[in-house]
Amino acid sequence: MDKSPQRIRGMFDSIAPWYDFLNHFLSLGIDRRWRAFTARQLINADTIDGDVLDVCCGTGDLTLALQRRQPQRSYYGIDFSEAMIERAKRKTGTLIFSTGDALHLPFDDNRFAVIANAFGLRNVCDTQGGLAEMVRVCKADGTVAVLDFSMPVLPVLRQLYRFYFTSVLPRIGEWFAGNRNAAYRYLPQSVLAFDSPQQLAGRMEQLGLQNIRIQSLTFGIAALVWGRKIKH
Ligand SMILES: C[S@@+](CC[C@H](N)C(=O)[O-])C[C@H]1O[C@@H](n2cnc3c(N)ncnc32)[C@H](O)[C@@H]1O
Repeated sequence: MDKSPQRIRGMFDSIAPWYDFLNHFLSLGIDRRWRAFTARQLINADTIDGDVLDVCCGTGDLTLALQRRQPQRSYYGIDFSEAMIERAKRKTGTLIFSTGDALHLPFDDNRFAVIANAFGLRNVCDTQGGLAEMVRVCKADGTVAVLDFSMPVLPVLRQLYRFYFTSVLPRIGEWFAGNRNAAYRYLPQSVLAFDSPQQLAGRMEQLGLQNIRIQSLTFGIAALVWGRKIKH
C-alpha cells in the first residue's frame, strides 16, 4: 500500500472540505462519541499537569474534545496537511494548530503531559517511528494514546461490518468527495492492513510504555490503546 507522505498529504488536502461531514455521516455520528470517550479517559483528575498534543490532528475535532475537558491547559494540534490545519484553525482561535510531520515532531523531549492520535498513526508511513516520536515528547508519568478503527470480533457483525466498510462506505465517500486519490477505498484497505489493537499495545510496550490499556469501542469497530511513560 502506498503510504508515501506525498500521496497521504495530497489525499487529505483534497478531501479536507468533505472530511468532517463524511466522518459524521458515514459513522452515524459515532465518531463524536469515540473522541469524547477518548477525551474523558485522557483528561481527568489523574492526569498530570502540563500541555496536551494531538498528533495528526486533521480538522481538530479530537483537540477540541480534549480542550472541553479542561480548558485551562494549553492544547496543540499538528498535521502535515495544510488544508486540514486550515479547517482546524477556522473552528477556534484558542488552540495552537500548526503544520508539521509526525515523524519529526518540532518539540523538545519530555514536553507534554498527554499525546493523543486519532485515526492518524495508521496513515504514517513508519508506524513505529511515529509512535516513538509521540513517546519522546511525552513527560514522565504522561500518557500516549492512539484511537483507531479495528475489526469487530463477533462473526456475523464482523462480516456485516466488513461488507459496509469495504463495499458501501467507499461508494458513498466517492459520491460526495469524488474519486480524489481513491481516499475512501484507501480507508478500509489501510484499516485491514494496519496493526490490531493488541499489536499496537505490543509496540507501545517495546517503546517502554507501561500500564497499557486496550478499550474496545462500539463492538470492536474502534479501539483506544494507551499507556503511561514511566520515569527512567
Ligand atoms: C484520518 S485523518 C484524522 C484526523 C483527526 N485526528 C481526526 O480525528 O479526525 C488522518 C490525518 O493524519 C495526517 N497525517 C498522516 N500522516 C502524517 C504525518 N506523517 N505527519 C503529520 N500528519 C500526518 C493527515 O494529514 C490527516 O489529516
